[in-house]
Amino acid sequence: MSIQYYQNLSDEVRALFKLDTSDTSYVIGVVDEEQFLGHIYYGQRLNDHRLTHLLRIKEPPFVPSKNNRDRCSFLDSFPMEYPAGGLGDYRESCISIETKGGNMGLGLCYVSHRIFTGKPSLSGLPASFGNQDVCSSLEILCEDPHTGVKVWMLYTVFEDVDIITRSVKILNGGKEELYLTKVFSACIDMDNRDFDAVSLHGSWARERQIQSVPVSHGKFSVESVRGESSHQDHPFMALKTKGTDQDQGEVYGMHFVYSGNFKATVHSDQFDQVRMTMGIHPEGFRWKLLPGEEFQAPEVVLVYSREGLGKMTRTLHDFYRKHLIRSVYKDQKRPILINNWEATYFDFNTDKLISIARQAAELGIEMLVMDDGWFGDRYDDNRALGDWRVNEEKLPGGLKYLVDEVNKLGMKFGIWFEPEMVSPDSDLYREHPDWAIAIPGRTGSLSRNQYVLDLTRREVMDHTYESIAKILRSANIEYVKWDMNRQLSDLGSAKLPAERMGELYHRYVLAVYELQGRLVEEFPYLLLENCSGGGARFDPGMLYYSPQIWCSDDTDGIERLKIQEGTALIYPLSTMGAHVSDSPNHTVGRVTPFETRGHVALAGTFGYELDVTKIPAADREMIPDQVAMYHKYNDLVREGDYYRIASYSENHSYDCYGVVAKDKTEALYTFVQVLGRPNYHSRKICFKGLDPEKLYKIEGEEGVYSGDVLMKAGYLAPNMQGDFKSRLIHLLED
Ligand code: DGJ
Repeated sequence: MSIQYYQNLSDEVRALFKLDTSDTSYVIGVVDEEQFLGHIYYGQRLNDHRLTHLLRIKEPPFVPSKNNRDRCSFLDSFPMEYPAGGLGDYRESCISIETKGGNMGLGLCYVSHRIFTGKPSLSGLPASFGNQDVCSSLEILCEDPHTGVKVWMLYTVFEDVDIITRSVKILNGGKEELYLTKVFSACIDMDNRDFDAVSLHGSWARERQIQSVPVSHGKFSVESVRGESSHQDHPFMALKTKGTDQDQGEVYGMHFVYSGNFKATVHSDQFDQVRMTMGIHPEGFRWKLLPGEEFQAPEVVLVYSREGLGKMTRTLHDFYRKHLIRSVYKDQKRPILINNWEATYFDFNTDKLISIARQAAELGIEMLVMDDGWFGDRYDDNRALGDWRVNEEKLPGGLKYLVDEVNKLGMKFGIWFEPEMVSPDSDLYREHPDWAIAIPGRTGSLSRNQYVLDLTRREVMDHTYESIAKILRSANIEYVKWDMNRQLSDLGSAKLPAERMGELYHRYVLAVYELQGRLVEEFPYLLLENCSGGGARFDPGMLYYSPQIWCSDDTDGIERLKIQEGTALIYPLSTMGAHVSDSPNHTVGRVTPFETRGHVALAGTFGYELDVTKIPAADREMIPDQVAMYHKYNDLVREGDYYRIASYSENHSYDCYGVVAKDKTEALYTFVQVLGRPNYHSRKICFKGLDPEKLYKIEGEEGVYSGDVLMKAGYLAPNMQGDFKSRLIHLLED
């Protein structure tokens, strides 16, 4: 069993829990007669449990105050496992309430616990899963005797992937209603070791850029109050010790399995103790709990690496591939698709789509995806969202005819929806203006000329589901791109009572989960790709429903190096929607070789986003080779271990990453020379992840090299003539 329970270790330490994965330990103590829950340790695996000295409970101000004289000092310094606000811990709290009388304090102390194998699901929420052979769980019940609030803290240890997950469930065990005004899901208190905080920031077309800032005495937070995880910040934060790089140094990561408002904070306190927290953003959150009612908070994934960021990356990749993504496609090669968005935008019809499909099929492309513009009066992005009936002017003969024709070409068919939205200029809005999220009497802020549907209303959710499902039942549609092109604002629901309006943000996310859950249940073989104006809802919550997510509307091969580097820092390559698009690129205007665009897209799901009938013949002629390249390498890309070797965002010159088979018999490295350098020699690259004892040959080259030489001494990647040039380097065991 990977969770150990020890009792009565000293007068002060009543109990201790030690959670072990294969390489990490996490230790919690129950302290003093009041049974405070303290965080003792997280890091590399320990072979013994005697470490309660780390709680400093005989050293003021860490002494639990029996006479209450210095209780505030204790509460404000003790490393709390799940800190509550209002009673004297002035650091970032994890939970706040408002009682009927308007008071906010909460003091949570240990009551009981349960240790069991396996992992329970979280009601209404996406969460990781695992069977009894690899998972053990610890559930600790804490209670505030004054209000009767009970908190169940759930920890699950994944032995096969070095991950521990955390979540909390709150029960109003009192006699009066109360409001939850803040519920975070995880907290770690540690002594500061000169940490830097790593996070991902961005914008539309620039998602998930890696940032690293020193942890200081002021608070640093990454957050979203946009109703989705967002382009701008990402529900991920890691602390790394100074000097940490891809291969060495300690990293503590938190990743939130949630797709709505979030907040992650870190700060160093007056004693240089660091507190890192993560959970639902408290802004706009106020959840009413009647006596006996419960609230389930989403899950945080905890990861620790003492072999740098690279090991953290590979641990998370394995974890999400094994324990979060459910789709039948998760371990399968996905069909190579061609999407008509950048090819035609709104200007298409059946003939145009069939001509693209015919040409694409001849080149080996396997699926046509019809993007935005096939329904209602959708001739541009100003209208018709919500009117999910086929536009027969564009698609004469209807959808089934088109799908059948595409199927006859030997291709699968996929379709785009934006189910969560309504245009003011739509039949749906004219009929049901109150179905949009809005503040009564106030004109709502439009974004891309659309409003967000109030999916928290049962009739709106059912109507939305049926509209999509009816289309999917009407033809052989094998893929859906689920888009979401605006963030939430003007929070108001015509049906929620005033005292529950503060629940709308979270209820909205729960409704999206329910909708997608219904969809994948009725259509289990549907390949679902989430998308949000590019990659604004690329998060672990969405991965529970779709095995792939559109990374960014920026499809330029060079911009994608940074976006995909940031994404791959925490997500498996198998999840990254990546396509070869036209040049000059529609977003950045850059001209890049077709070959490079193909090599970069190969690191994701791979597909095309261009008018294959119009691109230069020389590019078109390369497609069959790219198709073959995808089929040759996708198993390795999807299932292998990812290694970052050089980063263009750091060196501004070249990029290099690789994927190595788990058995180390094969590896594929991608080298992109972003800027050519005249009069320059070849570049020495030290590969990573190989077996030092194995001999490898490099495809297309003479000679055999040992893994040891290639990793320590290096390989020479030839200088190429020109900018934006790339090469694949394929190694096979000799
Ligand atoms: C945003 C998506 O990211 C694009 O790929 C495309 O589907 C458009 N929306 C369509 O409106």
